Amino acid sequence: MTASTASTGTPAHDCTGNCERLRKDPASEPLPGLERLIDLDSGRLSRRVYWDQRVYEQELEKIFARSWLFLAHESQIPKAGDYVTTYMAEDNVIVVRQKDGSIKAFLNTCPHRGNKLNFTDAGNARGFICNYHGWSFGIDGALRGMAGQELFEASGMDRAEHGLHPVAQVASYKGLVFGNMDPDAPSLEEFLGDFRYYLDVMLDMDGEGTEFIGGCVKSEIRCNWKVPVENFIGDIYHALWTHDSAARAMLGGPVAEVYKDPDSYHVNVNGHGWEFNLDVVGNAATLGDKEIRKYLYGIQPKVAQRLGEFRSKMIGSISSVSVFPNLSFLPGQNTFRVWHPRGPGKIELHTWTIVNKSAPQDIKDRWLKGTMMTFSPSGVFEMDDGENFEFSTRTNAGFVTRQQDLYMGLGRGTRLDGSGLPGNVYRNQVNEANHRAFYQRWLDLMQARAWHEVPERDKPALPDSAFTYGQQAKEAA
Ligand code: FES
Ligand SMILES: [Fe+2]
Repeated sequence: MTASTASTGTPAHDCTGNCERLRKDPASEPLPGLERLIDLDSGRLSRRVYWDQRVYEQELEKIFARSWLFLAHESQIPKAGDYVTTYMAEDNVIVVRQKDGSIKAFLNTCPHRGNKLNFTDAGNARGFICNYHGWSFGIDGALRGMAGQELFEASGMDRAEHGLHPVAQVASYKGLVFGNMDPDAPSLEEFLGDFRYYLDVMLDMDGEGTEFIGGCVKSEIRCNWKVPVENFIGDIYHALWTHDSAARAMLGGPVAEVYKDPDSYHVNVNGHGWEFNLDVVGNAATLGDKEIRKYLYGIQPKVAQRLGEFRSKMIGSISSVSVFPNLSFLPGQNTFRVWHPRGPGKIELHTWTIVNKSAPQDIKDRWLKGTMMTFSPSGVFEMDDGENFEFSTRTNAGFVTRQQDLYMGLGRGTRLDGSGLPGNVYRNQVNEANHRAFYQRWLDLMQARAWHEVPERDKPALPDSAFTYGQQAKEAA
């Protein structure tokens, strides 16, 4: 970029568009041979997806900089000026409630010389001031002022152009706030699609919503980010073996033999997946607290009225969920988590406990204790999982090892057509249908130069009004 000052002393902004070009790298060409990494027909997956630095760099651009990523729960930032800092992959962002009640998000970096702006995890602020030279920004991201402002003005700087870089799109679904770095990405509603039908099992049991309780637990695991996403998208298969001893400690017996459950499913939409059976409290039971089970049985009739009998049996059942690309949760156990990538071989895991806002305080306290005992860094199930995650990644350091394929073909031929449920539905939760759907979406995004090149595989069957449950009737009355 060239800058010049006219002889009159009047600063001129004559960069002829280079500024714009500097702000954004042009989209890189998709890596050649991506289609060879995945063979969905035979259920084969190349280990390169976990280990190759070039694949990882492309994921940052083509998956994380274009997908809707979880930013915060609205309950974390109820008042104007409330903020949290979090990550969108490796990009650190500030998420802040505005005076008009809306939510904005910005890169957590000063546009002057690039210092980190906000070093705290959460709080309330009237604005943000950079530690380095003291530039100050409003909660709307605008550059408010700086020391020696006249010198900057004399250099031809336009203050309006140097606010915090905004996250292009921010939107909420039933309390969950998501952001998308790509202004051309489809809406959050389109991105979630008919998966909202299932999300409502967790987010909208009684119309009162959910909240996070007890703060955020952070930990690091030396694994590729996709390994735990796969685990939560539908791998009950591992629980019967990996978690056997922990289950005996928490339940007083082994994990239920879900192989034989005729009423269990894998469902997926747009790469998001949910595996479940219909035993109402199977996951909740692993917390070892019968009061939580009683609570779930107690609200089930109300949920049945709102969401129907079928979904009321999913509220705490043996189940697990991943929302593409890196958000996961467990109904009944109520751990809610984001696997932030830190290179191909490491993640920073952020975990919260999510509960119904309307639940009695005693039940909320019991849930918090239960999630800490099971799914925290010292939790009995998390410790079991962590080791598997790390070694499923680490073995691929071997040059020859990483040339070998893996198998994810379990459950081919189990697709149920005409089930009456939205999305792609498969019989038996001991399945890898959701894994294959995740990697289909992964490949679609990795191969696309822009969103308009991403194939629409799962056309929505339900209108937006399907997720309001009598709201219109209430409003009309
Ligand atoms: S780097 Fe922030 S004010 Fe200079
Ligand atoms: Fe597990």
